[in-house]
Amino acid sequence: MKIKQACYLLLAVTLMIVTAEYYQSKPRPTALNGFSAPFVYGQFTTPQNNPLTNEAVALGRRLFYDPLLSGNNKLACSHCHQQKLAFTDGMKNSMGVSLKPLSFNTPSLVNLMWGPQHFFWDGRVNSLEEQALLPIINVDEMDQNLDELIDELKAVEQYQRLFSKAYGAINKQNIAKALSAFQRTLISANSKYDQFLAGTIKLTDEEEFGRKLFVAHPDVKASLRGGNCIDCHSQFLTSGFNTKYDGFTNNGLDNEEQLLPGLQAVTGKPEHKGLFKVPSLRNIALTAPYMHDGRFNTLAQVMDHYNEGIKLSSTLSPLIVEANNIVNGNKKKPSLNLSMEEKKAIVAFLHTLTDEQFIINTKFSDPFLQEIKIE
Ligand code: HEC
Ligand code: HEC
Repeated sequence: MKIKQACYLLLAVTLMIVTAEYYQSKPRPTALNGFSAPFVYGQFTTPQNNPLTNEAVALGRRLFYDPLLSGNNKLACSHCHQQKLAFTDGMKNSMGVSLKPLSFNTPSLVNLMWGPQHFFWDGRVNSLEEQALLPIINVDEMDQNLDELIDELKAVEQYQRLFSKAYGAINKQNIAKALSAFQRTLISANSKYDQFLAGTIKLTDEEEFGRKLFVAHPDVKASLRGGNCIDCHSQFLTSGFNTKYDGFTNNGLDNEEQLLPGLQAVTGKPEHKGLFKVPSLRNIALTAPYMHDGRFNTLAQVMDHYNEGIKLSSTLSPLIVEANNIVNGNKKKPSLNLSMEEKKAIVAFLHTLTDEQFIINTKFSDPFLQEIKIE
């Protein structure tokens, strides 16, 4: 009798252990709470194998802010992508662990589910998942060996829990997926301009004047003055077009000799030389300095560039060559010929694209500063 009882007990205990292990190893992620995407931005898709879940986003957020991800354990993604600067870093050329200035300026991370799924200034990667591990292994950014990183993460009890809840194993793919899931939630939709579009506020006279110029392609015959900006920054609520490489263009920063490869580095086509991604202008007042190499410090300088600084090259956008506010403008020296007042008005309009809530939203902030629980 005693032996039989003992056998039952043993069986019950084994069953319990097996079930517990099964439940522990099988992630059961839950659909992201309170998630809503502004419908005016249009359709978006998330990869089928990486849906937005509470567990994935919580894990990704922690990874994004964790210096453990870098070789010397000192530098997180958030070092270069700071929330208060709309996830840029205020540097002309960012610096990572090697302290060697990078060749590109840090872009804002915002509304990444919309717009072209071509990331980096020259569009060389086609998904956030593909992008996520690159800064980690880049010797001048985070300089981390991925196998070492995986061992380091496995040694942290909290990561064991977070990974097992979100995805299962601690591996490269799941690190990339988690970082991407978090970044997809960085949605900004409450700037002064959004409120204007929703009809809840009015713009000032100067902002409204700037808005009109921003959205108009100049037409001298029709006495329509314009800044031409919308020709390229067409969906500036998001970031450019999303088909093929339509959202890449040459906005006249350099002449032929200085032209960098840009998109040509990706497609190999000579007509793509010097073409760069048209960036979102959302939160632009917070993300100085400007352009792929951070060459302009202020929006006034950006306006001077478009108004009187355009450099000629074989791939310069025809939209820029054509845009002029005076009759018989000089085609060899494209210029918008806007007045001082008009340039200032466009800058005033650009300031309405700042979303004050985005930069203080605690969902996007450093979780180490406010330990999160996702029990
Ligand atoms: C040392 C500074 C630095 C660090 C650290 C850094 N980034 Fe970046 N990030 C940049 C720069 C610079 C670019 C633009 C590079 C280019 O276009 O070639 C960029 C581009 C990006 C882009 C593309 C955005 C777009 O619209 O094309 C994403 C996404 C991104 N980073 C995410 C991350 C993630 C995730 C991490 C951490 C794993 C990270 N970054 C770490 C500087 C940094
Ligand atoms: C022909 C297309 C085109 C037109 C027209 C155009 N832009 Fe741009 N804009 C671009 C491209 C491409 C870039 C990025 C270029 C680079 O860095 O190489 C850019 C960059 C910018 C930036 C810097 C963004 C950043 O994150 O650094 C600002 C600000 C800007 N444009 C404002 C304007 C304004 C204002 C107008 C109208 C006066 C305008 N643009 C007209 C294509 C255009």
